[in-house]
Amino acid sequence: MTKRDPCTLSNYHEWLTKHTTVNLSINFQEQAVKGTISLDLESQTDRQSKEIVLDSSHVRVSDVKVNSASTTAWEVRDRVEPYGSPLHISVPQGAAKGEIVQVELGVETTSKCTALQFLTPAQTSNKKHPYVYSQCQAIHCRSIFPCQDTPDVKSTFTFNIRSALPVVASGLSVEAPEEKDGNADGKLYKFEQKVPIPTYLFGLASGDIVSAPIGPRSVVATGPEELKACQWELEGVEDFIQVAEKLIFPYQWGVYNVLVTPPSYPYGGMETPVFTFATPTLISGDRQNIDVIAHELSHAWSGNLVTNASWGHMWLNEGWTIYLERRIGMALHGEAERDFSAILGWKALEDSVDLFGHDHEYTKLIIDHEGIEPDDAFSTVPYEKGFHFVYYLERLVGREAFDKFIPHYFTKWSGKSLDSFEFKETFLDFFNNLGDESIKSKVAGIDWDAWFYKPGMPPKPHFDTSRVDVCYKLAEQWKNKDFEPSPKDVEDFTGNQKLVFLEALEKFEEPLTPEKSEVLGKVYGLASSKNAEIKSAYYKVALQVRDTSCYQGVAEHLGQVGRMKFVRPLFRALNKVDRDLALKTLEKNRDFYHPICKALVEKDLGVTGTN
Ligand code: BES
Ligand code: ZN
Repeated sequence: MTKRDPCTLSNYHEWLTKHTTVNLSINFQEQAVKGTISLDLESQTDRQSKEIVLDSSHVRVSDVKVNSASTTAWEVRDRVEPYGSPLHISVPQGAAKGEIVQVELGVETTSKCTALQFLTPAQTSNKKHPYVYSQCQAIHCRSIFPCQDTPDVKSTFTFNIRSALPVVASGLSVEAPEEKDGNADGKLYKFEQKVPIPTYLFGLASGDIVSAPIGPRSVVATGPEELKACQWELEGVEDFIQVAEKLIFPYQWGVYNVLVTPPSYPYGGMETPVFTFATPTLISGDRQNIDVIAHELSHAWSGNLVTNASWGHMWLNEGWTIYLERRIGMALHGEAERDFSAILGWKALEDSVDLFGHDHEYTKLIIDHEGIEPDDAFSTVPYEKGFHFVYYLERLVGREAFDKFIPHYFTKWSGKSLDSFEFKETFLDFFNNLGDESIKSKVAGIDWDAWFYKPGMPPKPHFDTSRVDVCYKLAEQWKNKDFEPSPKDVEDFTGNQKLVFLEALEKFEEPLTPEKSEVLGKVYGLASSKNAEIKSAYYKVALQVRDTSCYQGVAEHLGQVGRMKFVRPLFRALNKVDRDLALKTLEKNRDFYHPICKALVEKDLGVTGTN
């Protein structure tokens, strides 16, 4: 095996992690986790490699043992930006090919850890207890403990986590062989992950967490005050699982649970195995944002079983997942629903490509990640261009044939990582051997290089526009001075249709008057919507036309959500019309936001942070 991930400093072509045991105690007082990590590493060479190199970033290492014997022959070398400080551990005799060497490390996180957010009680919704959660994708696991931090390596995991508060993790919960009440440092929570996973899927959260069922094999875990609303919102999850199972094959992770995080969570969702982590903004009281759950669930196959070998091939994770998410939507709500969602995605892709520039490296399906921190290259491109590639392949061979390929592909690569070239080979092998000459000649015509390496927009397919046309038609009516809006206008609109309508209003050459904006918010119930997506989109329209009646509402809204997708655009818009209020709002909520979010908003507003 050769090393094909440029974002790791580890020598994983010489040693491969097979099992990881994580023994960590959560110290809320010091906002750190501390303990030992043990890695079972399989030698890939015949005694040729005399050292093991692991990724680490801002994490303290001590007491290194190799096969249970203490050693001093190790060092954390100088930082190599942006990938961190390689930990070199000497194995003087090497090991025979296939032999396992066990490395044990004492570890302690530092305040520079990029994977964990600690919240004080004041930062949580009921303000009673502290909270901590991890976010490891793409290369942050190395800041919790040294590891081979690459999606090209998969290991089984044992988690032994000690905490004063309930813990969830990316493994199945098993009874801890411990006294019920624990000791002074809290109780021991034990989990096993028997399906090998890459380190970016390592997930951990602890806080005032309770859970309730949302399906026969699913619970939602969240704060006690939020539990009922979360349970109602997510009750349909079993329908999603069943559609995906029919399309691919049975769900492999035992149970599918959702952790609804504190409101400061800066993302929409994360596909942590066993426990998807999700923003509370999904809990909108109308079940209109649960496509994010269909997305994270789909990762249980695309991403978590079949994994991109490096972040430059991220479309294999995200493009396939968007494809599966939309197939779930299509199975439950019809084909027009998939096209509607694809049209929204197409627009997001156009925005990204315009922002980067049509020739930019990051607008290619395969991105060169050498020397790059994957988060910096992150955009809609792997999602939507990736979706369009998979969707193009589906239309080329026909849905019936493609639906035979789906389980074949996921079975062949389950438990492994692959790159785009292995995908191409798998696809061609399958269709060349299907015994259908017409399909065979069609796949011979695929311009793989253009799809993989051409920057900019892919070819545009024909979409069924029936569901967007009504949104644009309503927006057109708002151009008419005598238009009398009524709640009936949007009565049959889904949440996403309201978003398309609001996006159209935002693009008007002649904007609405502030008075009309106020009417818009009231008559359609947008300003009072519990759906953060809709509320944020309305506030963007209202701020753009300086509708002062909304300013206070915007400021309040900014104190309730920490998801960057909403927070950053609203701060930028508020700053344009009332800088003083924008600064005051940031000051008031600075302890509420995730550090990354806070830093980015400060940058957006042109202020330097005080901490
Ligand atoms: N795996 C991603 C989240 C992610 C990507 C975290 C890159 C860190 C680095 C997750 O599956 C995702 O795509 N979340 C989306 C939701 C989705 C419906 C597109 C999000 O957070 O908005
Ligand atoms: Zn995703």
